[in-house]
Amino acid sequence: MKKIIITIDGFSSCGKSTLAKQLAKELNYVFVDSGAMYRAITLYFLRNHVNTDSSEDVIKALTNIELSFEYNDRTGKSDMYLNDENVEALIRDMLVSENVSTIAALKEVREFAVEQQQKMGEKKGIVMDGRDIGTTVFPNAELKIFMTADPHVRVERRFKELYEKNPDITIEEVKRNLEMRDYMDSNREFSPLRQAEDAIVLNNSNLTMAEQLKTALKWVKERSATLIM
Ligand code: DC
Repeated sequence: MKKIIITIDGFSSCGKSTLAKQLAKELNYVFVDSGAMYRAITLYFLRNHVNTDSSEDVIKALTNIELSFEYNDRTGKSDMYLNDENVEALIRDMLVSENVSTIAALKEVREFAVEQQQKMGEKKGIVMDGRDIGTTVFPNAELKIFMTADPHVRVERRFKELYEKNPDITIEEVKRNLEMRDYMDSNREFSPLRQAEDAIVLNNSNLTMAEQLKTALKWVKERSATLIM
């Protein structure tokens, strides 16, 4: 089957990364969690107290940032590295979640990340999840999925994930953070979260992981078949 580019966009905690990982494994594709890149940049900015009001400071900081993904045999997934440091756990921290939408809205940050993401897709055979992947990063992708899930389902999923690491977290905190990020991600000036016109909507509120994978694989087959003809 001809290798294609698959994009998965949508609001926070819709299960985009889960589906992207499932598809990558099944198709033997590269999986890229673009949100992890914005989170790693945010971690660097927080640690180094970068003045985000100064475009010059932001550009200077970005020149000191090297991002890479490395496969982790133990977990069976790729971890995010920031300047050769494994930051996979740190970037899931609430402090990063609270600041990532502000940092990800900066024009310079978007240009920096998008350029790297586009390079990763040059050979196709990639599934990338994020907010602007089907609209800005790969507008010509063969398969674009826009994921949604009911708000209460998303809050519960995210709460469960965070509670394992931090039992002090409250459901209210998680809800506030998701609402804030959805608002900022959809209303920013550069590359806001939008459903691409040619994207297929997948609402997974009532789907099991196996069902969502089956649905997406059917779309992959359909899209790949039209390429061969
Ligand atoms: O997918 P995530 O929740 O880990 O992403 C973290 C943040 O990064 C999200 O709130 C918005 C930003 N982001 C973005 O602006 N563009 C992307 N392609 C991916 C993520």
